[in-house]
Amino acid sequence: RARLTVPALRKMKADGRRIVSITAYDASFARSVDSAGIDFILVGDSLGMVCQGHDSTLPVTIDDIVYHTACVARGLSTTLLVSDLPFQADATPERALDAATRCLQAGAAMVKLEGAGPKLEVIRFLAEREIPVCAHLGLTPQSVLRLGGYRVQGREEAAAARLLADAQAVAEAGADMLVLECVPSALAKRITEAVAIPTIGIGAGPHCDGQILVLHDMLGMNSGHRRPRFVKDFLADGGSILGALQAYASAVREGSFPGPEHGYE
Ligand code: KIV
Ligand code: NA
Repeated sequence: RARLTVPALRKMKADGRRIVSITAYDASFARSVDSAGIDFILVGDSLGMVCQGHDSTLPVTIDDIVYHTACVARGLSTTLLVSDLPFQADATPERALDAATRCLQAGAAMVKLEGAGPKLEVIRFLAEREIPVCAHLGLTPQSVLRLGGYRVQGREEAAAARLLADAQAVAEAGADMLVLECVPSALAKRITEAVAIPTIGIGAGPHCDGQILVLHDMLGMNSGHRRPRFVKDFLADGGSILGALQAYASAVREGSFPGPEHGYE
């Protein structure tokens, strides 16, 4: 297996091959994810919760992300690596360029950032400087203070229309991929059909071009939080960590995960 590339992700969407992704934060898990043939790893700012024990992603710094990105990169041979830009590291185009450069120099091939609106300029700025960008819409955990909690987004018609417009805008601005988190399955389907870039769902139903889960969630480690409906414990039947990762990858590729019961109306 050759190392997956950014253009290959878009080709997978065009060919109707589902993209499988998971988060990871260290070299050992990265090696297992790589062995399981998962397409890309996200060094998510979810590390603030699952590694650092915070109750949001806001305390995570760019130094944290760069450290974990370098750790994960050492474990990979074919899986593509994406790093999250943490809270406010993408507040201005210049800050985002510095942060993204550090991620790429630590081994990432793409950075992810949350939101549209003022972030469109940031996406454009990075894309024009040859930095692949993954956008992230729907439930954006870095907005938790203004949202007042973690809940499904885009349920009302006006909010759904805004999300669809934002998805088209991030693609237009130069994003190469789009994570959709906690949006109704029907809306995720509309967005997936409307954009040429791959959509990667988490709590976004079965119709996205790919899926992502937080590693610890799919291994049944819920960090003291209630298990959201879109999570499945693959270790329960997988028998081992590698088995769980392989079962997850197969389930996404054959379309049996996520099922309708993992999505929102
Ligand atoms: O930080 C993270 O793990 C994420 C994924 C859940 C998409 O952003
Ligand atoms: Na994140």
